[in-house]
Amino acid sequence: MGDKFYTDAAFYWANVPSTIDGVLGGYGHITETDIQGSKKFLSELLSSENPPARKRALDCGAGIGRIAKNLLIPIFKKVDLVEQDEKFINTAKQWIGEGNAKLGRVYQIGLQNFVPQKEYDVIWCQWVLGHLNDYDFVEFLERCCEALNENGIIVIKENVATSDCIEYDDVDSSVTRPYKLFQKIFEAANVEIIRSEEQSNFPDDIYPVYMIAIKPIQTS
Ligand SMILES: C[S@@+](CC[C@H](N)C(=O)[O-])C[C@H]1O[C@@H](n2cnc3c(N)ncnc32)[C@H](O)[C@@H]1O
Repeated sequence: MGDKFYTDAAFYWANVPSTIDGVLGGYGHITETDIQGSKKFLSELLSSENPPARKRALDCGAGIGRIAKNLLIPIFKKVDLVEQDEKFINTAKQWIGEGNAKLGRVYQIGLQNFVPQKEYDVIWCQWVLGHLNDYDFVEFLERCCEALNENGIIVIKENVATSDCIEYDDVDSSVTRPYKLFQKIFEAANVEIIRSEEQSNFPDDIYPVYMIAIKPIQTS
């Protein structure tokens, strides 16, 4: 998958309205259930042994800041956003409030080109990694690992294919991966799963959605 995979996705999102229903592809009504499921998953991780600190989090493919505002800002001292679409970024800043001291840096760049600084306790990636090809996904995870503080974790919340095959969507230029492919990608990026759970109470007519917490495999 070459550049067209990325330019088509950017074009698709540039034409989607800056609303919750827009970023959730017409499923705006599931946002509450989604955030509740994420809160529970994250709070279990934060109360585990050697938990991540609560200083700084990064919301990847942040859209209009739905996750930053409702999940991460209430928990972390600072939350940074990375999102490539300018209009979503402007809405996120307005919605979270540019005067909100918890809103940190906002990066306008594609994840395939983004190099996070080493400052994060939690890096949250939701409904965006299907926009990276496998190669860029592995490299992005490797860069995220470099950017984690001690005990830091990466959380991935993504659609998972029910077949064994990767499924391509030519409407938004994304892929949906089977769970096994996520596992292969994690292995290639030298990360291990520390917790994995399917989101409950989502509608039957969408893909299963998994929350997967990963951390770098310590080599020494
Ligand atoms: C389905 S929306 C999800 C937004 C947000 N994560 C949420 O759950 O509310 C996908 C988002 O990913 C962004 N996106 C798509 N491709 C991207 C890329 N290569 N790098 C960064 N963001 C990207 C889109 O602009 C859009 O905001």
